[in-house]
Amino acid sequence: MKICIIGLGEVGFPTATYIKEQHFETWGYDLNPERVKKAYETGINATMDWNAIPHDSVEAYIICVTTSLGPDGPDMSSVFEVCKRIATSRKAKNFLVSIESTLIVGTCKKISVEIFGSSAKLVHVPHRFWKDDPINHGVKQLRVIGGVNEKSLQKGVAFYTKLGIPLYPVSSVEVAEMCKIVENSHRFLQIAFAEELKMICYEIGLETDELKNALNTKWNVEILDAKDGVGRHCLPKDIQYVIGLTKKAELLKSAVSVDKKYVDFCRKINKARKID
Ligand SMILES: NC(=O)c1ccc[n+]([C@@H]2O[C@H](COP(=O)([O-])OP(=O)(O)OC[C@H]3O[C@@H](n4cnc5c(N)ncnc54)[C@H](O)[C@@H]3O)[C@@H](O)[C@H]2O)c1
Repeated sequence: MKICIIGLGEVGFPTATYIKEQHFETWGYDLNPERVKKAYETGINATMDWNAIPHDSVEAYIICVTTSLGPDGPDMSSVFEVCKRIATSRKAKNFLVSIESTLIVGTCKKISVEIFGSSAKLVHVPHRFWKDDPINHGVKQLRVIGGVNEKSLQKGVAFYTKLGIPLYPVSSVEVAEMCKIVENSHRFLQIAFAEELKMICYEIGLETDELKNALNTKWNVEILDAKDGVGRHCLPKDIQYVIGLTKKAELLKSAVSVDKKYVDFCRKINKARKID
């Protein structure tokens, strides 16, 4: 089985590595020469030349390219671009497209209709990769899967089962799309709660860690550590993908505002400590 991973970054590279380790013929494509070089050096057939890929015998394309938040809102353009490439490179239609990049709700159906003319088998299997623990929370962890139609879902489930990746199928691709951005929004809320608690404790002169440890003795309470603010790119982007769906989302908007205040609070505390 030939598999092509498109986007060889933080999640695409370990995905390609995992697939290669399962002894499938693994192809990789990226625009970034350093990422291609790194993958090539580990034995993946990585290339920047799209035409070097044996498209007509590729069984599945796994898309792990960038999705971001631009000045005008969510930017899915890289996913659209690579899907257009796939659609124009394939004669036979018996292949699977799995989008693992994080998406806004509605993207897969739009791609299916506008780019593949509803002919492709298309699934969304959002990544849950956590680079700090790639063994337990890497490529091979329970993943949600949704398809643009029943045949796509069946093909997707069969494919990931061959890869040995456990799945939680859902009845629509929109549920899978929503699932990813909501799980990251939920994490954002938990962090913002811990941040707010820390700021309250500071104001009233209580030790946050002792309070947190005491609270966490209750069976249904799990207060996180407030660290330096919600960092990296996924959580801040994904909560905005949910906020952008509605005029409501008051709790999520407050969490974003709490996080901004908390980062400012940390800066002031650190500055005051340096002066002391
Ligand atoms: N990093 C994580 O921990 C993580 C976890 C879960 C989900 N995700 C999601 O996975 C997706 C990828 O994230 P990442 O962290 O791997 O990003 P990344 O920036 O590390 O890698 C993305 C790669 O895609 C390539 N790329 C972009 N446009 C391309 C195009 N048109 N053709 C070919 N290659 C292209 C880039 O050159 C880059 O190497 C995003 O949607 C992200 O939200 C990331």
